[in-house]
Amino acid sequence: MQKIQIGFLGFGNIGNGVYKILQKHRNEIADKEDYQINIKKILVRDINKKRPVETDRSILTDNPDDILNDPEISIVAEFMGGENPALSYLLKALNNGKSVVTANKEVIARHWEKLDQAASASGAGLYYEASVCGGIPVIKAIQESLQANRIERIMGIINGTTNYILTKMSENNENFSDALKKAQELGYAEPDPTADVEGFDAAFKLSILSTLCFHKRVHLERILREGITNITLEDISYGKELGYALKLLAIAKDNEGKVEVRVHPTFIPQNHPLSSVRSSFNAVYLKGDCVGDMMFYGRGAGDLPTGSAIVSDILTACKKEHRYMKFGEKTINAVYNDDWQTKYYIRLTVKDQPGVLGEIAGYFGKHGVSIASVIQKGYGNTTAPLIFVTHEASEKSIQQAIAEIRKNPCVISVDNLIRVEE
Ligand code: NAP
Ligand code: HSE
Repeated sequence: MQKIQIGFLGFGNIGNGVYKILQKHRNEIADKEDYQINIKKILVRDINKKRPVETDRSILTDNPDDILNDPEISIVAEFMGGENPALSYLLKALNNGKSVVTANKEVIARHWEKLDQAASASGAGLYYEASVCGGIPVIKAIQESLQANRIERIMGIINGTTNYILTKMSENNENFSDALKKAQELGYAEPDPTADVEGFDAAFKLSILSTLCFHKRVHLERILREGITNITLEDISYGKELGYALKLLAIAKDNEGKVEVRVHPTFIPQNHPLSSVRSSFNAVYLKGDCVGDMMFYGRGAGDLPTGSAIVSDILTACKKEHRYMKFGEKTINAVYNDDWQTKYYIRLTVKDQPGVLGEIAGYFGKHGVSIASVIQKGYGNTTAPLIFVTHEASEKSIQQAIAEIRKNPCVISVDNLIRVEE
């Protein structure tokens, strides 16, 4: 049996999960895979911190070179998070011929080419299943089981923290900050939860997924990104009245060579398959030209689900069979479509006086936006909420109409604009 020495960079939520799995399944892994995996060193910031799993303190270090320069360590597993110093440590590991397994979607999304080049140059492996959708093996499926397809469409709930928060807000009327606090306690959130609630985490993952699916480099900067911090219980409640559930969706479409990529809160019909994806669960829907519709569902965050993906990658790295997508000369940059068509929910607060509804409807008409339904409440007060749902319209037309609506003296505020997908 081959003994494999590995080093961990990080020992927080995910590091603890990986450690627990490697301890618990040590014998099965040895039996099934014929490898004895030994964690030789673990990099942390603070060696003296109390940790939830008991470990031999002598394997903890605060010096990255104890791992990156150790010739016995052949695999470096990174779950420290953030762009730097993680990037420089991963590059050093790859340059030194060590295969890298990472859960760090930010580093992959931003610096994929650099990491790929370093791996190519030294012949080391680069694996990142855990970076997208925690425990769901979606990257392996795209890379190893769907090669026969041209994938045209991705739609998914790919951030567990925001799905957990929106579920709590929608089902229990919990407020945003209480729900976020619980998601942090459960270990779903990023070290800085802004990454979750402002949609950065989902955008990193969408950049990775769409690059893999479309065989084109989809850059992070070209993804429309809106988080859930502007979502109120009021919007969720109006959505329910209209028959919708609210989700933070990641959407990517490749329409005849033009790529549309966006992450934003989205209303979907309550009977849509993604609307039943609750709590920290993730789901990714893909449409391939041969296979048709496919949906992947599972735990998208948390120590053991994510640990499951990491341990699988460690075992793949042990076999040195291959590595995930290589960037070669053939990798082209995506061409983008920023003027997609979808439906829109728009909530305004207006002066409650005759003629206002007609005036606002006029701006939509002027920009070719057709209205599907309107809700007006609180007649008889000085102000009233006014909610429009449009038929399909172009993003640019909607933005132009909203810019004019904002200037109307009867409009107190444009409170929210939420896209609707059916
Ligand atoms: P975490 O609990 O904050 O753990 C981070 C670990 O890295 C800690 O052990 C910390 O050391 C160590 N660390 C951070 N910066 C360091 C530095 N500069 N030098 C040395 N050690 C450093 O984070 P996490 O939730 O485990 O997430 C880690 C990574 O996994 C992130 O990239 C995240 O995106 C990814 N991920 C997380 C999940 C999830 O469900 N949480 C799922 C998929 C992927 P100390 O312990 O000493 O502070
Ligand atoms: N913070 C991330 C999430 C972890 O909530 O989905 C999984 O990548």
